[in-house]
Amino acid sequence: MHSKPTHIVILAAGLGKRMFSSVPKVLHRLAGIPILQHIINTAEALQPAAIHVVYGHNGEQVRQELNTLKVNWVNQTEQLGTGHALLQVLPLLNDNDNVVVLCGDTPLVSAALLKKLLLATPTDGVGIVTTHISDPTGLGRIVRDQNGQLLEIVEEKDATVQQRQLKEVYTGIMVAGVKQLRQWLSALTNHNAQGEYYLTDVIKLALAANVPVVTIEASCWQEVQGINDRAQLALLERYYQSQIAQQLLLQGVTLLDPQRLDVRGELHVGKDVIIDVNVILEGAVELGSGCHIGPNCFLRNVKIGNNVQILANTVIEEAHIANDCRIGPFARIRPQTQLANGVHVGNFVEIKKSHIGEHSNVNHLSYVGDATIGKNVNVGAGTITCNYDGANKYQTIIGDNVHIGSDTQLIAPVTVGADATIAAGSTVAKDVPAGGLTLTSQIKQRTLDNWQRPLKKKD
Ligand code: UD1
Ligand code: CA
Repeated sequence: MHSKPTHIVILAAGLGKRMFSSVPKVLHRLAGIPILQHIINTAEALQPAAIHVVYGHNGEQVRQELNTLKVNWVNQTEQLGTGHALLQVLPLLNDNDNVVVLCGDTPLVSAALLKKLLLATPTDGVGIVTTHISDPTGLGRIVRDQNGQLLEIVEEKDATVQQRQLKEVYTGIMVAGVKQLRQWLSALTNHNAQGEYYLTDVIKLALAANVPVVTIEASCWQEVQGINDRAQLALLERYYQSQIAQQLLLQGVTLLDPQRLDVRGELHVGKDVIIDVNVILEGAVELGSGCHIGPNCFLRNVKIGNNVQILANTVIEEAHIANDCRIGPFARIRPQTQLANGVHVGNFVEIKKSHIGEHSNVNHLSYVGDATIGKNVNVGAGTITCNYDGANKYQTIIGDNVHIGSDTQLIAPVTVGADATIAAGSTVAKDVPAGGLTLTSQIKQRTLDNWQRPLKKKD
């Protein structure tokens, strides 16, 4: 089968009633990515001639959200069954093409399984993937004769009591030639318990025409599990996460608890990375060698150099962190921030859209926004860049070796020259020259000797 041009058809027009959701089922997310996108990604790995997605119910929403993916969208205006769904795509295909049918709600199918199916299926034959499952409720049963020869797939609602005992089920994955499918699909009837045109009925038609039908078995049921409700979604999420954790462990990452890490995107890690519990890594995350991620950290689209320590409860989004930095606990690094080598950012510090130079420190209770800070700068506790006048944002520029005293407000736009020292409690509204000590409106300190603390009134 693999010698013919292969088209992949993903059936995704179903309603997804059991999600009880206004979001179409295939847009619900697994590991942060829409269910349907997982399947499209896998389909792409097979390098097919084209990928066709049959959509219908709330389809515009699906198309809109996934409009960057290279697929051909085919509208099935009425959901009359899986056989009818596949029929909508056939006019777009050539007789010599080969079709792999996948279900839009089965996110964890692997490219390896599909390759195996294509290899096992003879040219002009049909191939299906089955699996054995302890609770086959709701699934199509694989019916065989005494010799194990395949006879048909029977949907649960049409199955006899005896057939319902069968544990081998159809996974919804099939490969067949277009020429034959044209004949078989137009011969389908909907005379069954659900009044639908079942794709599964083509098996009987193929066997009647002496076309070979091979079955291969998926090695684990999770790989072919369809998602019909949120319980199944949660189950597959945990399965997927455990697989990722296992890969990371075998790749040399220390996970203090492999069950308490969530990766929702693509993670690249160096050597000797340690990840503590309840860490969420979203989007594209790169962790250099020797990094240590403390408990309860959330990192999204970040690039982190070597030997960086991220301490507990730190949030970092869309930022670049160079080598040897130390961030947190309880720090928030917001988008478009760059920390150079050896920067320290401490507790209750928020940094936004700023560049902080080598070996500078912002250690306590500060807001740094729209700022460029030089090397070896110390930003004292409680320093605030006042970057916003209610209408526009302005820049704060701080030169190398500046020392900013605690509780300083820098009213942007403002520039502080290199080597300047700003006294604690200053409100800096004008540019500060290089070097020297700058003080602003410091009150003259005095002491009243004959002053008494107020006393509590007696009733
Ligand atoms: C189907 C199979 C069943 C198999 C199971 C595996 C049929 C008749 N039954 O059953 O043997 O065990 O999948 O999960 O094929 N869809 C459309 N248009 C439609 C109907 C369905 O695009 O008119 C799509 C759905 O969105 C879904 C897929 O086809 O992604 C399967 O449809 P579903 O209704 O879930 O079929 P099942 O009853 O699960
Ligand atoms: Ca299903």
